[in-house]
Amino acid sequence: MHIPSWPQAGEREAELLQLVLESPQWGGFHDFVGEFEQSFAAYQHSAFGISAFNGTVTLEAALHVLGVGQGDEVIVPAISFISTASAVSRVGATPVFVDIDESSFNIDPEAVKRAISPVTKAIIAVHFGGAMCDMGALGYICRERDLVLLEDAAHAHGSEWNGKRAGSFGIAGSFSFQNGKVLSAGEGGILVTSDEEFAGRVRSLANCGRVPGRSFYEHKNLGTNLRMTAFQAAVLMAQFERLPQQIAIRTANAQALKEALRDIDDIQWQREPAEATQNSFYLLIGRTNSAPVRDALCQGLIEAGVPCTPFYPHTLYQNELYRRGGCRVMPCPVAEECIQNAFWLPHNVLLAESEVIEQVANVIRARAASQAVNAL
Ligand SMILES: Cc1ncc(COP(=O)(O)O)c(C=O)c1O
Repeated sequence: MHIPSWPQAGEREAELLQLVLESPQWGGFHDFVGEFEQSFAAYQHSAFGISAFNGTVTLEAALHVLGVGQGDEVIVPAISFISTASAVSRVGATPVFVDIDESSFNIDPEAVKRAISPVTKAIIAVHFGGAMCDMGALGYICRERDLVLLEDAAHAHGSEWNGKRAGSFGIAGSFSFQNGKVLSAGEGGILVTSDEEFAGRVRSLANCGRVPGRSFYEHKNLGTNLRMTAFQAAVLMAQFERLPQQIAIRTANAQALKEALRDIDDIQWQREPAEATQNSFYLLIGRTNSAPVRDALCQGLIEAGVPCTPFYPHTLYQNELYRRGGCRVMPCPVAEECIQNAFWLPHNVLLAESEVIEQVANVIRARAASQAVNAL
């Protein structure tokens, strides 16, 4: 079964990389970096983009500039990559883990409400797998309770909620361009925002405390160097040209796969609410009725040459780091169930030819059926 490999590169990457190689500027001051920042921020419906060498430091930078620190709590979903929570800890604040919603797999707004305390400062919304969180509900909670909304949009390049793109809802959105992401430079990240003052402060932090209009060796603020290289920007510019078409292919294939498996009751796919006007499908996430069904399904797919991951092996708070403390944990029964019975297919599966998508559906169908017989 031919599943396209990822990441992918073509002549365009080579052409733009060659331009960088031939230029006297290989670092973050090459025009490509600024050009990519502007076009990506605009694509995500934001006014400013500040790139960085990965999507973990962008989260840390955002929290730092927001003044989140010692004594503050930040509400995060129990299911995400570690950076969502570690960024909170690294600025000295306390992550508060809340449950995910059973159909969207995203942070549950009702669970968020129950977790708010007098020291809650912010909520980090992670658009898991590319599917947007309920931005209506989260936006409302933040306005009512005077909390900052930060989007960890590491999975959500191009995703939309009611026509508005990820990263443009809260103060800022953080994206990752790590190896497996739908827009990849091996490593890389960007913060997008429409708040000019915030953008200026993040830019200064990321650029050794410099401010516009001053000389290279003048450092007004305490900063650091988070700059992305021109090589990263060159690769990203090339990848970005293909992104809209790839999103369309993934979306069509996700629909085709789900349609082919419509009668399989054992699998509940991540819900796509009507408000999610575009999903970039970083992951195609599903849940089965039990751990044995999930394991058999993943095993069948892997044997057939289709990459499949049996979800995260644990919730974030079950990591050794957080078992030692330094966090607050709300009840998370859905998250704990998902680690037993959920799975995902990576986005490159959804770039396969339509006959391959049919074969993938057949493998899933056969495995689900054999497990149903075993259960009799
Ligand atoms: C949800 C989420 N947030 C943050 C990150 C961190 O991004 P990076 O690997 O670019 O540091 C990732 C990375 O995979 C992620 O999945």
